[in-house]
Amino acid sequence: MKVPQFIPFVGMEEYESIKRCFETNWITEGPLSKEFNEKILEIIGAKYGVLAPNGTLALILAMKALGINPGDEVIVPNLTFFASASAVEFLGAQPVFVDVCKDSQLNIEACRRVLSPKTKAIMPVHLFGLVPDMGRLQEFAQKNKLLIIEDAAQAFGVKWGKKFCGTFGNAAAFSFFADKSLTTAEGGFVATNDKKVYEKLLFLRNQGRRDRGSFIHQEIGYNFRITDIQSAIGLSQLKKFKQVVFNKKAIHAKYTQLLENCDRVEILQPPIEVDPFIPFRVILKTKLNESSELMEHLRKNDVEPREFFYPLHKQPAFSYLQTDERYDDCHFTISNHIYDNYICLPSFVSISEEQVKYVVQTIKSYYKEGQSSK
Ligand SMILES: Cc1ncc(COP(=O)(O)O)c(C=O)c1O
Repeated sequence: MKVPQFIPFVGMEEYESIKRCFETNWITEGPLSKEFNEKILEIIGAKYGVLAPNGTLALILAMKALGINPGDEVIVPNLTFFASASAVEFLGAQPVFVDVCKDSQLNIEACRRVLSPKTKAIMPVHLFGLVPDMGRLQEFAQKNKLLIIEDAAQAFGVKWGKKFCGTFGNAAAFSFFADKSLTTAEGGFVATNDKKVYEKLLFLRNQGRRDRGSFIHQEIGYNFRITDIQSAIGLSQLKKFKQVVFNKKAIHAKYTQLLENCDRVEILQPPIEVDPFIPFRVILKTKLNESSELMEHLRKNDVEPREFFYPLHKQPAFSYLQTDERYDDCHFTISNHIYDNYICLPSFVSISEEQVKYVVQTIKSYYKEGQSSK
């Protein structure tokens, strides 16, 4: 049986929805984008927000609006998708990496170690739909006068306590890439509760002016708009969102149940504060640095796993930072452990129960074969 890592959850509904753009001749950002923008804000309970072409540009736009400038430092968890850090670098600022906890979330205690007079902001990343302790993070940020930029790319619709991800910081960025719980193919969103930041976002995303069609530009701005074609897809995705949440939770529960009696592995679980938990991927934890061997076994059996994010302090692209002691390997033992032990299992919305069972059976066969050969 073939089990791919990912299949986007799109179909005839999305296909039909984009017809409207062609019928009305409105293919660039227009009425559907306005409606999509409003619906997102309604769902997450943020006061203001703007659409963006993708999650990377949403992060850049958010940080630019918050005044992150060349020379500033931004704390970024050492395990996250590359874009969390490259967005900081894009602004001429420096991403400063901090180790994560065993649940893959930013280790807030460890942040103290990297503070400097240049530290301007901290970026919690809600990786895999999990969330660091936002109460403690806000306390840390307040005490050290840091701005908070949430990278909520993988956590649309996820709540920590009573609030949705994306409403804890000064600004937050979401991604609507094809593998996210809500997709517009490519797309992103910046949320904020700060009116001044919102005003700044409006100018920045639309060539430094409030209205299109005017050639008077009050500020420096760029083009961070999207299209009504993408927003039409987003609007039809919102109609399916309840089903996405239901399926994703069920897939996570099934993997957990089927692997309960296998003491060699464990499925990463959310803390009780995260509810609803919408697993971006189901994460399998091995214990003896087995991730690459197990992935090879899965691939040989037609299951496509995905490796964990490579620790940022080891990324060739960031080797220029390595003269700074804060990036020494000794500070990143948990990131290194996770990279060697954790695996992303196929967990796309439409995966069948048979496919989940087959993945589990293949994992179990790896351990049985391993034991018999010893
Ligand atoms: C944690 C995280 N941050 C940022 C991004 C960037 O989003 P995009 O691919 O939409 O640019 C992603 C995308 O996967 C992500 O997972």
